[in-house]
Formats: sequence, C-alpha cells, structure tokens
Amino acid sequence: MKGIILAGGTGSRLFPITLAVSKQLLPIYDKPMVYYPLSTLMLAGIRDILLISTPADLPAFERLLGDGSRYGVRMSYAPQPRPEGLAQAMLIGREHIGDDASCLILGDNIFHGPGLSDLLESAARKAEGGRASVFGYWVDDPGRYGVAEVDSSGRCLSIEEKPARPKSNYAVTGIYFYPKGVSDIAATITPSARGELEITTLNQRYLDAGTLDIELLGRGFAWLDTGTVDSLADASSYIAAIEKRQGLQIACVEGIAYARGWIGADRLREIAATMPATSYGRHLLRLAETAPSTNPLKQL
Ligand code: TTP
Repeated sequence: MKGIILAGGTGSRLFPITLAVSKQLLPIYDKPMVYYPLSTLMLAGIRDILLISTPADLPAFERLLGDGSRYGVRMSYAPQPRPEGLAQAMLIGREHIGDDASCLILGDNIFHGPGLSDLLESAARKAEGGRASVFGYWVDDPGRYGVAEVDSSGRCLSIEEKPARPKSNYAVTGIYFYPKGVSDIAATITPSARGELEITTLNQRYLDAGTLDIELLGRGFAWLDTGTVDSLADASSYIAAIEKRQGLQIACVEGIAYARGWIGADRLREIAATMPATSYGRHLLRLAETAPSTNPLKQL
C-alpha cells in the first residue's frame, strides 16, 4: 500500500499569508499542517509515502520531513509544476505507486475522531482487494465540494463536483483509497472546464465500474478544512481545545510510529531532546517512559 500527500496548490484564499509559504506548512495550533494528513496515512498503516508539492515549496517539506526514518516511514518527494488538479497526483505518483494499491490524501485535510484507524485500515484492505473507497461527511454547504448521493443501505449512487443543486449534504472528503492500476485510469481523464484533472471524475470511473464504496463519517468526527483564514483559525482552536484538555497530542507522528513499533523509545528521547521547551517534546518524553502497548493509538 502506497501513500501520497498532495500539498501543492496556490492557497489563493489565504493571500497574503501564502504568497511566500505553502499553506500546508502553516501552523495548526502547535505543529505544521502537513503533520495531520501524514499522521492519517500512518494510522492507515501506510509507511511508503510520496509528498507532492510545488517546485518552490518542495525543499521546505524535505527540510521538515526528511527521509521519514525519524518517524518510521519512507518519504519521497515529487514536484507538481502547476496546480492542474487532484487526479494529477496519480500520474505524478505513477512510479511510486507501481503495481500497488494506494491512498491519496490532501495536504490541507484534518481528520479526527473515534475509530479512525480501524476505518482507514479497513479501506486499505479493500483497496488491496480491488475496491476503491471514499469518505462522506455531512456539511452545511455541500455545494463547495464533491457531493455524494447515498441510498438507505449506504451505497453510493452518484458523485457530482460542486453541484448547483446538491443531492445530499455529504461532501466527499480529501482522502481516497484506490486499487492497483489507478494511474492508468487517471491517464484517461481529460481536463474539466476549469482546466483541472478532477478527482471526482476519477471516483466516477470506479462508481461506474461498481467498485467504489463510500464510508460515512458520523457526527462525532471532525473533518476540518483549512483553506480560508476563518477555517484555519477554527482548526487551530479545535486542536488546541482537545490537546489542552487531554494533555495528549493529535497528529504526533513520532508517537504513532512508537505505538506501532516502527521506532523505539531511544529515538523518541533523542527527538524530544531537540525540542525541550515545547509540550510536543514533553509529550514525546512521557511516551518514551511508557510501553507502546499501553498507549492505545486512539490516545495519540
Ligand atoms: P484547493 O483548496 O482546491 O486549492 P488551493 O490549496 O490552491 O487553495 P485556493 O483555492 O485558496 O487557491 O486544494 C486542495 C488541496 O489540494 C490543497 O492541499 C492544495 C492541493 N492541490 C494541489 O496540491 N494541486 C492541485 O493541482 C490542486 C488543485 C490542489
């Protein structure tokens, strides 16, 4: 199973903040935004991850995330010269994906909620068995997103991109699981009226073939968007409220790697020593004093 984080784009709704810095490197409370999608892939059990961003921003991501060994994964990097659509990730990532199933996550999507790891692991297994999965989330303003029509048995009937008259309130979130061969299917897509290779078109191909499942995330889940100044500030407040209340970290990539047995306590201590003045560093030290098995993933 291969992972891809798509972290390019222009971030024009955040100008002037994003004139010189990638949106996905902005802080969400106490850590860079990209940690959240990265940790979501790790919770799905994915350890071989390609990050795609603009040629200008890639070096900063490489400085931040390195080769991934610090948190038990393998990171690689590829440029997207122009923001020509989400489905283009599956073309840029063709070599990385190879003959495997894959999961694409958008670099500005934050998922948090009970049982997330189980949901993701199950979608990963289905992708390996030949079925694609998307996740639906009830929103007040579905017309801004891909919108899924779902029948009473939970079957996906249609997906429409930014419809004027949405058939439901279920937005398709920014994480997608595909079986092997997705790059070949993506290669058959032509650009939409706005000049992008649309992820909705790719998802429709699986829907038409009868190999697309949709999983609805319940209202206990948070799916946060960070594309505007208000949603960026809201996401930071949400993470701050939960982390301070619990004294735990959300999207702590080293903590997840430790709980999964991908890195040891010594590595945690080493990393903690580089950030002693932060609650993130203190959290790592605390984790290093506990056996990984007593740190259920859901508490990370
Ligand atoms: P968007 O929010 O649609 O676009 P954006 O981030 O460029 O922002 P704006 O609309 O304010 O200009 O993108 C969603 C995510 O996908 C975001 O993480 C950026 C990423 N993206 C790419 O990396 N490449 C692309 O071609 C597109 C369309 C988006």
